[in-house]
Amino acid sequence: MTDSGTRALEEITTKIEKEYRSRTPRSEAIAAEARKYLPGGDTRRSIFYFPYPVWIDHADGCHVYDEDGNDYVDFHNCYTTMILGHGNPEVKDAIKEQLDQGTLALGSFKKNVVEWAQILCERVESLDQVRFTCTGSEAVMMAIRAARAWTGRDKVVVEYAGYHGAYDAVVFPPDSRGLPKSLMGDTIIVPYNDKEALARTLQEHKGEVAAVVLEGLMGAAGMIPPKEDYLRYARQVTTEHDVVFLLDEIISFRLDYGGLQRIENIKPDLTTFGKIMAGGTAMAAFGGRHELMQLYSPDSQVLHHAGTLNANPLSAAAGVAMMRQITPELIARLNGLGDALRDGIREVFQKAEIKGQVTGMGSLSNVHFGAVPVVDGYTARDTTNKQLLHLLHLSLINRGILTPERAMFCISAPMSARDISNAVQVVEDAVYELKPYVERIWPELMGTV
Ligand SMILES: Cc1ncc(COP(=O)(O)O)c(C=O)c1O
Repeated sequence: MTDSGTRALEEITTKIEKEYRSRTPRSEAIAAEARKYLPGGDTRRSIFYFPYPVWIDHADGCHVYDEDGNDYVDFHNCYTTMILGHGNPEVKDAIKEQLDQGTLALGSFKKNVVEWAQILCERVESLDQVRFTCTGSEAVMMAIRAARAWTGRDKVVVEYAGYHGAYDAVVFPPDSRGLPKSLMGDTIIVPYNDKEALARTLQEHKGEVAAVVLEGLMGAAGMIPPKEDYLRYARQVTTEHDVVFLLDEIISFRLDYGGLQRIENIKPDLTTFGKIMAGGTAMAAFGGRHELMQLYSPDSQVLHHAGTLNANPLSAAAGVAMMRQITPELIARLNGLGDALRDGIREVFQKAEIKGQVTGMGSLSNVHFGAVPVVDGYTARDTTNKQLLHLLHLSLINRGILTPERAMFCISAPMSARDISNAVQVVEDAVYELKPYVERIWPELMGTV
């Protein structure tokens, strides 16, 4: 970067952060207090950003309100979880009913979990049976355990820069500190959306691979959809090699009534779910073919699956109340709003002649800045400009739009076409605030992709 570029970066950062701080003094004070008791004042890296995050007081519909009383349209939605927005009346009633019955957590069974499991199995064709876990990470871990037990092999293949949660075997990058080398030797990384690489890897490791684990669309990397027949090919080649195909639909489940696998017309052996399926409570699931899931049955006693709060009645009630409202009509409407948002933001970038891209599918979108089209983890992670994304993010917050720092836009049921056109307008205002600085700091980002 040139000296004048460095000065321009300092100038715009100071300008945007000054406005941010002046709007959020209570958040700043809470963030400082939080640093005393929580490492870095943070609870999970993915929602933290500098100089400090806004601290939320309450939420309603598609709005969240911070401690300073600022009102934001929430495009974050807890990383795609809150598909019905905040404070959905049916979900609230279902939770209240469990409170009134005194059934928050039991060392026994309650029948609402059967209905919950039934809803998932009826919607998703590849599911014969499901098991519930407290997090998506655990669901992935348990599904991989089933694949390893079934095949008698140890290796797993995952996509470059994919995200499957906190389980060591699938954390990216595999050489991150704290990951045991003995375990990571069994993790093989392939580029997403690359059929040849997948086929080559399975051939090279013939007879060694237990599972291929892929996201339905790459969520955390920036809403990167699968190329046309990539997942169908993955299904085919895993079948040929007798390898378990685990499709991680923790994010992509919201894209279709039957999950992304219905759009792609594939039946994975195992699938993981989370986010929208638990009504905003901490619960997830994995499921799939009967013979694989039976490994977890007390009848067979092959695999151990524990978890104090697994399938607790509170989450089951919230999950059932949420899932019942997620109809094909609702999904189609939200996906349509997503199309409009992507078109609108793309037009903004074109008009402003900035190399911004909008990836995504249906109700899920993500902005990237870079000249190379984003199609996989490598292009998303290693060729895009994250500093500009950070500035855009704060500038959006200053204008009343809440997204994650990576500028992901997730649509929820309370949003209307007007919310979408307002959001496009806000993006345009933010982009035009940044444009004179982009010209000075990153001239290579001027133009069209
Ligand atoms: C695709 C995918 N898999 C797994 C996970 C892990 O889920 P959890 O955060 O509930 O552990 C996530 C979380 O964002 C995810 O997006």
